Amino acid sequence: MRADRDGDGARASNGRGCGRADAIALAAALALALAIGGFAQAASPPADPPRAQDAPAIAFPAGYSMWTHIKSGLITSGHAAYPRFGGLHHIYANPAALQGYRSGEYPDGAVLVYDLFETRDSGDGIVDQGPRRHIDVMVKDSARFKASGGWGYAEFAAGERADRLKTAERDGCAACHASRQQHGDVFSEWPNAGAREHSDS
Ligand code: HEC
Repeated sequence: MRADRDGDGARASNGRGCGRADAIALAAALALALAIGGFAQAASPPADPPRAQDAPAIAFPAGYSMWTHIKSGLITSGHAAYPRFGGLHHIYANPAALQGYRSGEYPDGAVLVYDLFETRDSGDGIVDQGPRRHIDVMVKDSARFKASGGWGYAEFAAGERADRLKTAERDGCAACHASRQQHGDVFSEWPNAGAREHSDS
């Protein structure tokens, strides 16, 4: 027991063995490394500049569940999209996006969210909503996302606040959504677009 304690003590004091001089040397080395890094960045621009869609990242659409609910849908295991988008989804639109559902033209600032949940089949005829899988997001900014029809695409895993899509995946989103070009690249339709009692304007 005693030998163990001594051993721990020795490790601990070794761990703290970084004296003031060491700390200063480390700080100096870090400063140099940062300076070199900064210089390298300034001196050599990336050979393959990122496309507009890649930077800056799309922000998590905070508060989206308070936006207008457009529709819900269910993708079951019989469909090819099931592994990636299967489950129960709800689509939400911010006020700018509602204009798009009405007119077919989505103004810059429009944001759409596809909120996807697993399902739980209790076997007695009731299928309930399970845990969230992820949210898919579309953000309209004609200048920033020119290369993909003016829409930027992002995906946030449940509980995460950072977009996890890779460029090839984003291209996949854009390619499929481009097939709805006559509808502003948006698939869903808002059943209440023309209904005054459901309209918020
Ligand atoms: C193979 C075609 C396809 C691909 C790939 C695809 N989507 Fe969609 N997406 C759809 C369809 C169809 C809907 C409409 C679902 C509904 O009406 O319930 C939709 C709906 C949406 C919506 C709600 C707005 C709308 O268009 O109705 C968002 C947001 C969205 N998708 C984002 C994404 C993102 C992000 C990706 C890439 C990770 C992606 N989608 C990939 C077909 C696709």
